[in-house]
Amino acid sequence: MGRPDAPGRPPRVACEDRPVTPPAAPSPRDSALVRAARGEAVTHTPVWFMRQAGRSLPEYRALREGVPMLEACRTPDLVAEVTLQPVRRHGVDAAIFFSDIVVPLAAVGVDLDIVPGVGPVVAEPFRTRKDLDRLPELTPDLVPDITRAVELLVAELGPTPLIGFAGAPFTLASYLVEGGPSKNHEHTKALMHGDPTLWHDLGSRLAQISGSFLRVQAQAGASAVQLFDSWVGALPRADYEQFAQPHAASALAAVADLDVPRIHFGVGTGELLASMGAAGAEVVGVDYRLSLTDALARLDGRYAVQGNLDPALLFAPWEAIEAKVRAIVQEGLAAPGHIFNLGHGVLPATDPDVLTQVTALVQECSRR
Ligand code: CP3
Repeated sequence: MGRPDAPGRPPRVACEDRPVTPPAAPSPRDSALVRAARGEAVTHTPVWFMRQAGRSLPEYRALREGVPMLEACRTPDLVAEVTLQPVRRHGVDAAIFFSDIVVPLAAVGVDLDIVPGVGPVVAEPFRTRKDLDRLPELTPDLVPDITRAVELLVAELGPTPLIGFAGAPFTLASYLVEGGPSKNHEHTKALMHGDPTLWHDLGSRLAQISGSFLRVQAQAGASAVQLFDSWVGALPRADYEQFAQPHAASALAAVADLDVPRIHFGVGTGELLASMGAAGAEVVGVDYRLSLTDALARLDGRYAVQGNLDPALLFAPWEAIEAKVRAIVQEGLAAPGHIFNLGHGVLPATDPDVLTQVTALVQECSRR
């Protein structure tokens, strides 16, 4: 028997009868990654690695045995499992959706393959106006497996954010026009300068495809997106602004209304960082050629940054890695927000234990 109710207080009820408001489940919206991307306060610097899902992991190689890359990307259970592997193993602050930048091109019917050790190879390169007929719009019904895989992942990941991604129009155009990976992008640049009208028509088509691929992932529950313009560092700034930026901006605009922060990344883009931010990103990815401090000066404090440990440094003795990781974390404190990452993707021969150690070090040495 309890005490009588005090006057003026609500009547006492037994514990079991009390209406209980469960504490709100932690949401990816409150994760360190999403908060850092928005320039909000964080408990630690979030960390993930480009290409964290992939050949550095023996469990990945085992799952992929005998399954061609594009087929793997069309199999939701496999996509979900491969995406989760590095999250479980390393304890990173985000998952990156396992797919490839050419998946949406294959989905609209472009005849291509991803050749092991080479990369995407396009059967018939795009060079003339009539080639545009082979590049229809991407609608969500063409990629039901992507929606399904994202839904599976979001359910499994709980508070850990999933990053969706797409290739940016310039980088996609390079694969289409060259027919495969290219050092010099000569056919791409020849088309860009030789027939600017056709170039911009191709860019607009690719922006629709890229933007729509981002939107499908964000609508299915991805908490952030990254636009990979991996090869755009091949352009001088004036050419970037004239030929690439408008189309990247249009791809990024496709998710502007969806409350997902947008990360914009390319390799060798020291001269382009401010223009890449201005394309409509909240976060600018910095490769390993430029220090975060120099990048922040070029960005004028307007954007959060992501980066930028040299992936080759992961092969150095731990003391060297540790010193560089600590230095990057320190530099990142001056940014409106910092997401720790490599300056480009994990190299296949990387020792995965080193990635686990780097993850723990970033999370611990940045603890606020
Ligand atoms: O953690 C992740 O980042 C996983 C998802 C992912 C892949 N590709 C898986 C993949 C992402 C985000 C990509 C994007 C991608 N694909 C980019 C942009 C990022 C970058 O590296 O700059 C580019 C340029 C491509 C094109 C591409 N696809 C290349 C250059 C290659 C490598 C070819 C090779 O074998 O060396 C691919 C194939 C690819 N994409 C693999 C993976 C895991 C390897 C295929 C395999 O395991 O058989």
